[in-house]
Amino acid sequence: MACSFYFTVLSLSYLPLLFQATVGSSDQQMVVAQSTPEDHVFKIAIFADLHFGEDAWTDWGPEQDVNSIKVMSSVLENESPDFVVYLGDVITANNIPIANASLYWDQALSPTRSRGIPWASVFGNHDDAPFEWPIEWFAAPGIPRLLCPVQNSSYSILGEECSFRGTSRLELMKNEMDNNVLSLSRTGPEGLWPGISNYVLPVLSNDKPLVHLYFLDSGGGTYPEVVSTAQADWFKHVSEEINPDGRVPELVFWHIPSKAYRKVAPKFRIHKPCVGSINKEKVAAQEAEMGIMKILVKRPSIKAVFVGHNHGLDWCCPYRKLWLCFARHTGYGGYGNWARGSRILQINDDPFSISSWIRMEDGSVHSEVILS
Ligand SMILES: *[C@@H]1O[C@H](CO)[C@@H](O)[C@H](O)[C@H]1NC(C)=O
Ligand SMILES: *[C@@H]1O[C@H](CO)[C@@H](O)[C@H](O)[C@H]1NC(C)=O
Repeated sequence: MACSFYFTVLSLSYLPLLFQATVGSSDQQMVVAQSTPEDHVFKIAIFADLHFGEDAWTDWGPEQDVNSIKVMSSVLENESPDFVVYLGDVITANNIPIANASLYWDQALSPTRSRGIPWASVFGNHDDAPFEWPIEWFAAPGIPRLLCPVQNSSYSILGEECSFRGTSRLELMKNEMDNNVLSLSRTGPEGLWPGISNYVLPVLSNDKPLVHLYFLDSGGGTYPEVVSTAQADWFKHVSEEINPDGRVPELVFWHIPSKAYRKVAPKFRIHKPCVGSINKEKVAAQEAEMGIMKILVKRPSIKAVFVGHNHGLDWCCPYRKLWLCFARHTGYGGYGNWARGSRILQINDDPFSISSWIRMEDGSVHSEVILS
């Protein structure tokens, strides 16, 4: 039950030490999520690639956003998760001709917020992309009126004030955090900027650590599609500090698949040991591999990595001792017409296990897999 879930903010005295290599003084608290007290189960729904704000100037675009809200609502009603992860490409910023894309970001959060469920989000390559003028606008119907944020009515589309640059990751995240008590998202250590969504959420069960959730910004939009060496170092440092003996299992979330996904991708049909239902595209991997995968495969406590980005893939495949999983395209925005759904994770305490399945918009369930 979502309403019995709660979370706390701990100011841990050893954390300033822990983060001092990469973090400014503003980020010295750690947010902790907690499993449902009575059943010791922590259930997560992943909403991937919602792409709110697409073609906002047509009837089609806003209708897609309404449809995406229906998908999320259906999943939340069927699963009653304790937590939601927004796995990037929450909005299609390159289609948003207004100053503040947080308005669309906020719509995407609304089904989760209205049910009182806490969440965390990471960035995808579309979230802070600059607005791209659609070529159709210059054809017969003419150019739609744009809402520019200048005080002065004689606005100039080239003026500093007219925000066609897209809303920065930092602004999007700050708006989310400032306006939502249920958001457990963080802006991450300043040393890792322009990557913003880099943080860890320990999940407790019975006041004991159940699992650590790591969120990383895999770039794209205003900078290259990579998990940088600095992010890899930060991950190594923090994970060794808060989980030195690797006793607490760890899960990792980012948007764009790393190149390792290509190595395990099923060739045609999905077959064991992979589990999934659609394998319709080539893996669209990050531009470069800068060390994070090497670190992850060497840590036995890492159980799985979850990514979105490819709307036509929903499989999980083993890679060394961990699993590489795609989410499931949740939004009606974005390319592809494969049926929409959400990857669900269920983490059980005592005995410990992690299982996952895909819940579709129509309520059906498939592709169940045990990840640990
Ligand atoms: C952008 O939108 C958010 C949420 O809708 C709001 O809190 C914030 O004040 C807005 N920022 C600006 C600069 O208008
Ligand atoms: C808008 O620009 C005009 C002419 O440049 C100026 O007279 C006026 O004061 C400006 N208005 C505001 C609200 O800045």
